[in-house]
Amino acid sequence: MSADEITASTAERIAELANRRTELAAMAETDAVRRQHEKGKMTARERIDALFDAGSFVELDAFARHRSRDFGMDRHRPLGDGVVTGYGTIDGRRVCVFAQDFTVFGGSLGEVYGEKIVKIMDLALKTGCPIIGINDSGGARIQEGVVSLAFYAELVKRHVAASGVIPQISLMVGPCAGGAVYAPAVTDLVVMVENISHMFVTGPEVLHTVTGQRVDREELGGAMRHNTVSGSSHYLARDEKDAFEYIRVVLSHLPSNNMQEPPAYDAPVVAEITAEDRELDGLIPDRPNQPYDMQRVVRAVLDDGELLETQQLFARNIICGFGRVAGRSVGVVANQPMVSAAALDIDACEKAARFIRMCDAFHVPVLTFVDVPGFLPAVEQETDGIIRRGAKLIYAYAEATVPMVTVVTRKAYGGGYGVMGSKHLGIDINLAWPTAEIAVMGGESAVTVLHRRAVAEAADPAAERLRLRAEYERALCNPYVAAERGYIDEVIMPHETRLAVTRALEALRDKRTTRIARKHGNIPL
Ligand code: HXC
Repeated sequence: MSADEITASTAERIAELANRRTELAAMAETDAVRRQHEKGKMTARERIDALFDAGSFVELDAFARHRSRDFGMDRHRPLGDGVVTGYGTIDGRRVCVFAQDFTVFGGSLGEVYGEKIVKIMDLALKTGCPIIGINDSGGARIQEGVVSLAFYAELVKRHVAASGVIPQISLMVGPCAGGAVYAPAVTDLVVMVENISHMFVTGPEVLHTVTGQRVDREELGGAMRHNTVSGSSHYLARDEKDAFEYIRVVLSHLPSNNMQEPPAYDAPVVAEITAEDRELDGLIPDRPNQPYDMQRVVRAVLDDGELLETQQLFARNIICGFGRVAGRSVGVVANQPMVSAAALDIDACEKAARFIRMCDAFHVPVLTFVDVPGFLPAVEQETDGIIRRGAKLIYAYAEATVPMVTVVTRKAYGGGYGVMGSKHLGIDINLAWPTAEIAVMGGESAVTVLHRRAVAEAADPAAERLRLRAEYERALCNPYVAAERGYIDEVIMPHETRLAVTRALEALRDKRTTRIARKHGNIPL
């Protein structure tokens, strides 16, 4: 054959690409895809189409195929190797994605599949855009052995490198096991979908083999379980579309990377006191132990009353979520007196600590609303590690450098005062309502500790107890002792809250702080 003889014409080469594209398109017609649809699940490409702006998605490595030869693998080498990767836009902003395809080897991760994800993660990190992982996978591909394990570790390494640099969101939309849950666990947010998402390190069958215990998927790692009990998921979506919508709204609150500010929107501030503002004046009950809904305070302050909660169903004694004030994102942390009297427990501390750290990493100011009687007194809390695990919350506040504003509406007692965004942790502006009670403890407890003998020896113990309690509360259970010392910057009427918070955040917009250089802190884990 002479050097200039043609082996394939240009037309033939173009036809070959067209054929490969046809092969790719045909994958949407297989039995496995039909089975996926029968389970009420979308395919990887359908998910990307539903999440991204129409026509914006660019797929990479669509022609990649695995190189495995064992167990008859060489007879089946599907295009793409079970994961779709690429980039596109969501609400006009660039985002990278990988979507695992359960219809190919159960979405399991092998060498080529791992290389594809590594490549798209590297692209996201070096170009500073969020990465979304859509997980629907049986974990490490059993046929490929240690290589699969190696790539999971490669993924985790990259998730950690990207942590705090670009937002990372994991959507769980299948029976995810092994590495398919550990890699998402290190990302910023995990979203699960009712009935179709399951997460477990060890699945029910293996669990039964090893322990003899029978437990179904839903109980072991269903979406409801992880949203209400384990706290491993941040949102329980009704269906996949609801999950995509949640992700879109979360991204609208975050910058694309840590060198940018979160997106800001035009939202003129209503400068007058509104009827809704006035409603706050009647919110706090006269009886100190009567609950009220802190959501009403939060929503009265946020633009359009809109709060996007994270872990809404977990540790409901504390509210965490994103909202906007004057068009700019804020992260809200608020005690909820409607649940367990808002006492802080391990779950609440861990929930809020992680949320504050996410806000801090991505320049989202933290707005705290306080009504906390203190830490939950309970033997299990002590033995389960409230000291070590509750310390995360105080650490997170003390470490954060974003603008921070705190509003004390009622109780701020003892450790609760110290931990929940107090001035001393570095909060910039601390506001309090006239109903605030900032002290070591409430009147009942204080009288018991200080005056037990005096009460017992009094002619009328009940009347004496009442008198001493009133004396204590008048002297200490108010915002003014703290205000005298500058621990509270301003005591405001409840109806002034929205405008006071708006002004405070505006004043703090250009806040700058520097920290002493170090490798990293050592947060208690
Ligand atoms: C290869 C797999 C697979 C895997 C599933 N499949 N998991 N192939 N490697 N890990 C294949 C099945 O053989 C089947 O192929 C198809 O995917 C669908 O699986 P089914 O079992 O029919 O589906 P379902 O009943 O829905 O059960 C899903 C499942 C189950 C719960 C995920 O398949 C399962 O338990 N898989 C194993 C999970 C696991 O132990 N993975 C390893 C974890 S260790 P056919 O051809 O029949 O359609 C790990 C280490 C991480 O991940 C290390 C981190 C550092």
